[in-house]
Amino acid sequence: MGDESGRKKRGNIQTENLSNNHKQVVEVSEKYKRKSDIFEQAFQFIGLMTPDGILIEANRSALAFAGIQESDVIGKLFWKTPWWTHSPEMQKNLRAAVKSASEGQFVRFEATHLAADGSLHYVDFSLKPIKDKSGKVMFLIPEGRDITERKRAEEKECVRQYTFLRQIIDMSPNLVSVKDSQGRYLLANRRMADVRGITPEQMTGKTDVDLGAISKEASRSRRDDLEVLRTGKEKFILEEICTLSSGEVRFHQTIKCLFLNGKGENARILTISTDITERRQAAEKMQKLLNETINLIGKLGEIRDSYTAGHETRVAALATAIAREMDLPEKQVEGIRIASLLHDVGKITIPVEILGKPGSLNSHEFSIIKTHSLVGYQILKEIEFPWEIAKITIQHHERINGTGYPKGLSGGKIMLEAKILAVADVVEAMSSHRPYRPALGIDKALAEILQNRNILYDPEAVNACLKVFEKGFQF
Ligand SMILES: [Fe+2]
Ligand SMILES: [Fe+2]
Repeated sequence: MGDESGRKKRGNIQTENLSNNHKQVVEVSEKYKRKSDIFEQAFQFIGLMTPDGILIEANRSALAFAGIQESDVIGKLFWKTPWWTHSPEMQKNLRAAVKSASEGQFVRFEATHLAADGSLHYVDFSLKPIKDKSGKVMFLIPEGRDITERKRAEEKECVRQYTFLRQIIDMSPNLVSVKDSQGRYLLANRRMADVRGITPEQMTGKTDVDLGAISKEASRSRRDDLEVLRTGKEKFILEEICTLSSGEVRFHQTIKCLFLNGKGENARILTISTDITERRQAAEKMQKLLNETINLIGKLGEIRDSYTAGHETRVAALATAIAREMDLPEKQVEGIRIASLLHDVGKITIPVEILGKPGSLNSHEFSIIKTHSLVGYQILKEIEFPWEIAKITIQHHERINGTGYPKGLSGGKIMLEAKILAVADVVEAMSSHRPYRPALGIDKALAEILQNRNILYDPEAVNACLKVFEKGFQF
């Protein structure tokens, strides 16, 4: 508590027997006294100082708070008073604040002060400049309000929210982590720690390398983190391998982004990974099943037409090689492969006598043969493929000058996949034995597509096919 006896005496002013002039003085003095009482009684810490930071006044609350006397602070530089000496950082801030306020600015910041009992309190501190009529700063009024209770409540709430969030993160089936810009873990959930066979707490402050991650995986993860730090953009990793401490290999789908948009040294990277190993295995199983089904359908045709056994498999090998040579996306290449394996499925309805007839076919027989692309379409359109397999199939005998069948489509109306399939189909058919003729050989087959490049066959598909054979392709 401040010592009352050490404080300035502001004597009682008697109003009796005073002239009118004197009454005015008294009123002002009374007003001053009332204000002075308010100053003294205020709950808030209030003072008065010169623009260069020398304290002239400090109220009772301010002195009592720190358990000091007026003599400890009056006439001293404010930042050297006991309220501030516990923190050189605070003193520095205050000195800068006094300078700003002396230049006419209102300054406000959150400070800490040591209370009389030695406990640290939070204070909402401000410095207000008082100017004369010309705008010159005459005094500064320092004010402070103890906000410790509110801060403690906020901190408590913060801890409560953190605990709540932590619980949610720990219960997540995903792997969640936050790393600093140096790659050290600041936070990891239980699933994440399980990968390393340790607790989340044991991960704190360590990098992937410290935690014994496989060096290839650690450097890949670091590279991705650095990319996020550099670009500030979210990074999505469709699939990445993660080797557990047990040696088991898992597949993760991962998303990384800057955490709370921190920058530079304060940047944090939030990583959320989903274990997709089971999903991937199921997809692989489905793919295997699909391949087996497709092969089976292809074989059904071959049983009826033993002369063309292996035709569809060989066409598929060549068509995919052409598609890759043309730099088509792998998904499109896969569609071409499947369409190739099924393109002649419509032959299932053509009588064996016609399919296996030695010698040339008459026009009636040929018109029956020609139905196979339409029949193939009707069969395949019932299956929901992720590609337009039925459409590719119906177009595989179309020719770019419009002389093909069944619709006589030309150029741009024929799908690229069907154009590639047409080239592979012709090359394979000509280079293989047929009931009505011996094999013509690969050279004749390539001469045929070259001769009809841009007439019957798509020029880019022909060029790619020639290149594929130049590079040593063999059926
Ligand atoms: Fe065909
Ligand atoms: Fe064919």
